[in-house]
Amino acid sequence: MFKANGAYLKLPGNYLFSEIASRVAAYSRENLQKADRILRLGIGDVTQPLAPAVVQALHAAVDEMADAQTFRGYAPDMGYDFLREAIAANDFASRGADIAPDEIFVSDGAKSDSANIQEIFSADARIAVCDPVYPVYVDSNVMAGRTGTYDAATGLWSNVVYMPCTAQNGFVADIPGSGVDVSLIYLCFPNNPTGAVIDKPRLQAWVDYANEHGAVIVYDAAYEAYITDPNLPHSIYECDGAKTCAIEIRSFSKNAGFTGTRLGYTVVPHDLKDADGVALHDLWARRHGTKFNGAPYIVQRAGEAVYSAEGQRQTREQIAYYLQNAQLIVEGLRAAGYDVSGGTNAPYIWMKTPDGMGSWEFFDHLLQSAQVVGTPGAGFGPHGEGYFRLTAFGSRENALDAIERIKRLQ
Ligand code: MLT
Repeated sequence: MFKANGAYLKLPGNYLFSEIASRVAAYSRENLQKADRILRLGIGDVTQPLAPAVVQALHAAVDEMADAQTFRGYAPDMGYDFLREAIAANDFASRGADIAPDEIFVSDGAKSDSANIQEIFSADARIAVCDPVYPVYVDSNVMAGRTGTYDAATGLWSNVVYMPCTAQNGFVADIPGSGVDVSLIYLCFPNNPTGAVIDKPRLQAWVDYANEHGAVIVYDAAYEAYITDPNLPHSIYECDGAKTCAIEIRSFSKNAGFTGTRLGYTVVPHDLKDADGVALHDLWARRHGTKFNGAPYIVQRAGEAVYSAEGQRQTREQIAYYLQNAQLIVEGLRAAGYDVSGGTNAPYIWMKTPDGMGSWEFFDHLLQSAQVVGTPGAGFGPHGEGYFRLTAFGSRENALDAIERIKRLQ
């Protein structure tokens, strides 16, 4: 009789956002009269429609697909040159980072890339994650059998290095000591879930550490478009030496509303080589070639339109709208006496639960008493316990309504 992949059986519970969706669905079924009142500030899903420049590019590309002269079949595995060149120029060269178009791998989104990237590392590579952390990094390594055993009492895996992010360190992890054995370090800035940001000297220190210790940083910059402070780095490649120790993952979901359209990319520089001189770029290219048939042409044209002058202006307006939501949520919660961080240069607001309530306890309380959905901090790791995440991706009306309801909570 066949056996299923036992590594999957080690995963505790459901994927965080699936669990939240099923709890909200159950609540809606049992409370039909309140279902319409539910305000969703849980998963970081955008609500503003695609920008007109993007929609125009989608229409034009669909018309091309309808004509035998301009029809396209399989896209190149790594992405069309027009998009890779636009990315290299706009996301990197414009910030003084020297990334070549052929170091950019276009994909269907940052979630899949951040889950898949671990495949090009050895089975015994030891990972280090921030705690709390976006759960995909850990879950994907559990599935690969890399994380050891799970301790249900602590919520920790035996073969994972956890880097606590607390109010004391401003929710920016401290660099592991030099005796710590770690090969693959996941960092995300602006941070999901805490909304913390990192300045260039601190990011440079991480790059220096990784180069000195032969480790790789997987840098998730999915929320870089929310940075308004001109002193903060948008890319890890703004740091000296990053091309020999860092992979960067980007998304079109949060900067241009592509959560349902799907587009992202990963940068793997040619200079990034393992102890035996193996270039990770070649392995990721090999993986892409075997497992991926390219993001759709029409979606890549839409991505290209994000970089047009109109696309930039329109998507920046959307980001400003979400950032204003974030500011209103932060100010509203602070005025109501809550301990809140994040929400500046980031779309996530990280609040302490009131009266020492557990994260899930507060989730249930907020859903049942106010019909507001957020994300329990404990779902992101043990150091998230006692915290709660709200997103700024809703409408202004819903953000204001949610604050009022939270203020009225008993
Ligand atoms: C989140 O809410 O953490 C994100 O939306 C999840 C994701 O981008 O996959």
